[in-house]
Amino acid sequence: MKTGIMIKTKNIIFAVDDDPFVLKFFKALFEEEYQVHIFTNGQEAYNHLDHLLPDIILSDIMMPLMNGFQFGKLLKNDERTKDIPLIYLSALDTATNISKCFDMGAVDYIMKPIDYNVVRARVNLHLSLSNLQKELSENNLLLQQERDKLEQRVEEKTATLREKDIQLIEMDRLVSTYTLAAGIAHEINTPLGIVKSGLFALKKGFQTLINAIQYWETIELPELIQTNYKTFSDNSQLDAHLRTIPGRFNRIERGIQRISNIVLQFQSFGRFETGSIASLDINQSIEETLSILFKTNSKNISINKSFSKLPTVECLSNDINQCLLQLLRNAKDAITDKGTITISTSYDESHEHILISIEDTGKGMSKETLRQAFHPFFTTKDIGEGTGLGLTITEKAVKSHGGSIKIDSEIEKGTNVMIRLPVHSGLAKTPDSKDIDTRGGGGVLWKGIDPRKLSMYYIGNRS
Ligand SMILES: Nc1ncnc2c1ncn2[C@@H]1O[C@H](COP(=O)(O)OP(=O)(O)O)[C@@H](O)[C@H]1O
Ligand SMILES: [Mg+2]
Repeated sequence: MKTGIMIKTKNIIFAVDDDPFVLKFFKALFEEEYQVHIFTNGQEAYNHLDHLLPDIILSDIMMPLMNGFQFGKLLKNDERTKDIPLIYLSALDTATNISKCFDMGAVDYIMKPIDYNVVRARVNLHLSLSNLQKELSENNLLLQQERDKLEQRVEEKTATLREKDIQLIEMDRLVSTYTLAAGIAHEINTPLGIVKSGLFALKKGFQTLINAIQYWETIELPELIQTNYKTFSDNSQLDAHLRTIPGRFNRIERGIQRISNIVLQFQSFGRFETGSIASLDINQSIEETLSILFKTNSKNISINKSFSKLPTVECLSNDINQCLLQLLRNAKDAITDKGTITISTSYDESHEHILISIEDTGKGMSKETLRQAFHPFFTTKDIGEGTGLGLTITEKAVKSHGGSIKIDSEIEKGTNVMIRLPVHSGLAKTPDSKDIDTRGGGGVLWKGIDPRKLSMYYIGNRS
């Protein structure tokens, strides 16, 4: 609604007539109450509209240069003047003439000779109608603006709710996937253990058998037996089998090792690790990870290190080492044959945060890949090359330590992964005896530890 002081200025009347007597009459009649402007024809009045817009127009019909109807047509076709009330004055009182006046968009018609009271009453009436109309339009406009604002707020609120819904669905999906992954890992682990120990025994047994055969072959035997044995050995390609058996065992072992690695990733993805909390020297961890990862450097990758002096980080060391391994492996994988990996560490003393940046000059990620990079099982790597869990595990571990991870990447240029890790993550160290509170019926509680947090680290530990 409008506020403030309204300064009431006089309403403006344009009176248009070729009869100077009529114009004089209007001037005398309205001058006290209104600002009256007089014109002798339509053209003159129309030209004046560039300087001043009236609140009401009184116009004669029969005039030289531009008659009242031509003038009216111009007024109604002009955006500035189409809503200004127009009253025609004429001595032509035929029905056709009067109806033409209204067809032209006039609000009224006054017959000449002009009656003082009639013209005054009609001008006042149309002015107040027009003012009411204007007020209505302004209020409508305000109303429309308020409605627009309200609609926008509803839209914003709906969008936020939708976003929250999506997050909830996503979280639900993640929790199901975590549970499924941990479940699968657990189910695979038991038979995998049987296969591993079975293979170990089998390998040992086969070696004994091979030894026995080789021993048998060194012994002098009667010729008939030797001939029969040779025929049997040739027919069954015994030599070839004996030669290939060790290689086959090795391949089976590598396959089993790969399954073990995947199961391990499933487990750390599906639950919080039960590993111990320790003080970790991040620079040293990076060095160790690099030495494992670049034991063989078949690609031409140079490593730049820019390490700052860092305080140790209190963390689940297995988890954080796993993150470093995943990120450095991704950087290595991203470089096709030649490139650089730059690893920097620094300390943000004011927040007590450690910053780790791993930058590679590899193939980078498209926007679409970057969008999905943290999703579980998302991989662009060939079958057998990637599980799509590296970044998921990393994000989960970093966040559980109260840290954050951010990736900048540009296709064909490279990728920069930045991690922020609090020095004191709020996780507790393996308890010393003085930290153990044995009160409460034999249960062991760690002093100063939020039991809800503690249980979080052990969720899903089903073994
Ligand atoms: N440094 C990187 N450069 C380019 N792409 C990367 C990088 N790190 C991750 N990605 C992309 O993100 C995907 C998911 O990574 P990750 O979760 O570690 O799974 P994986 O390495 O098993 O594919 C990768 O397949 C790859 O497309
Ligand atoms: Mg990876």
